Amino acid sequence: MILVTGGAGFIGGNFVLDWLQRSEEAVLNVDKLTYAGNLRTLKSLEGNPLHWFARVDINDRPALDVLFARHAPRAVVHFAAESHVDRSIHGPAPFVQTNVVGTFTLLEAVRAYWSCLGADARTAFRFLHVSTDEVFGSLSPDDPQFCEMTPYAPNSPYSATKAASDHLVRAYHHTYGLPTVTIHCSNNYGPYHFPEKLIPLTIIRALAGEPLPVYGDGQNVRDWLYVRDHCSAIRKVLSHGAPGQTYNVGGWNEKTNIEVVQAVCDLLDVLNPKASGSYRDLIAFVADRPGHDRRYAIDARKIEDELGWKPAETFDSGLKKTVQWYLNNQDWVNEVQSGEYRKWVEVNYTQRA
Ligand code: NAD
Ligand code: DAU
Repeated sequence: MILVTGGAGFIGGNFVLDWLQRSEEAVLNVDKLTYAGNLRTLKSLEGNPLHWFARVDINDRPALDVLFARHAPRAVVHFAAESHVDRSIHGPAPFVQTNVVGTFTLLEAVRAYWSCLGADARTAFRFLHVSTDEVFGSLSPDDPQFCEMTPYAPNSPYSATKAASDHLVRAYHHTYGLPTVTIHCSNNYGPYHFPEKLIPLTIIRALAGEPLPVYGDGQNVRDWLYVRDHCSAIRKVLSHGAPGQTYNVGGWNEKTNIEVVQAVCDLLDVLNPKASGSYRDLIAFVADRPGHDRRYAIDARKIEDELGWKPAETFDSGLKKTVQWYLNNQDWVNEVQSGEYRKWVEVNYTQRA
């Protein structure tokens, strides 16, 4: 089996669902279930003998040791993290605890387990670290996209802690020979995305008739990738990636934030028209994010050329699927707008308006 951390979150949940649709290999899903973890995402796996769930914090070394001894995974795919930049600005401590100390604790548990495997199993083992393009910092409009050799320049507490975890993973390969691979992916979007992030927030607030907050001038650029394309890249790197290597993953879909919000509004105008006017009428420019990175963009040629990976979705096709998913899954949407979501909207947006 493979062990996945953070498999009740957005990308991890999509990865586990995708994996079990395509593979007979079991998944041990290790997740603390923070506000971002949601077992409802995994509801279709209830009773599936190939899905094992363990509510465990990656900081809990004894619990991790028990899981490794009991289940003997052949690989680890490490998603678990605090993932929201704005939350890292309001309170960085959990980011250091999970992204840095938690990754370190997990690496130590993996090292202890992996060291005791037989020679063939040690060689075949993989630790796949799910990192982000944010560790490379911010691009100017004319800069080339981030490649694997771009120097680290993390700007937010979130990206600084992800960078720290990348360095630990690199060091465990260099020092101990642990067969690690690291992926730096751009902004994901798709089903099961917690509505603190731009696209789901926009969809959910538009449907509720609430203002759609766009930070600053709306001209910051992100490079968007449909989440299932990230999942296919992870499968590809897991099966064919070379130990010690890093791979940048992106969709060649650079968009300004205002373009993204307008695109969501236009889709809703077609799929779920308002009684009068357009959803665009709800757009509201609000105070900017402190230290807001201006532009992210990924050069994905290495994974395309060396491993033959390509995204299946364009931004238009992926966004349409996403908006339709939110319209079709009101139960998930209603449940996720519970206390934690409301509390966050209060914390992050009240003083911005
Ligand atoms: P998410 O916030 O939706 O999910 C994180 C998951 O990790 C949740 O299920 C949460 O319960 C779990 N978790 C948090 N702390 C934990 C702990 N201490 N122990 C065990 N589980 C814990 O995040 P996401 O958007 O799915 O991102 C997953 C990974 O991908 C992260 O490492 C993130 O840095 C990276 N990433 C995200 C994006 C993106 O656009 N969302 C892009 C590139 C990389
Ligand atoms: O690039 C990969 C990263 O993408 C991941 O590592 C992070 O985990 C993920 O959260 C995401 O980070 P961003 O900060 O780019 O995503 P977010 O959805 O929070 O914001 C996208 C852009 O939209 C960003 O420029 C800020 C802006 N924004 C965001 C929110 C929540 C707004 O204008 N208004 C908002 O209300």
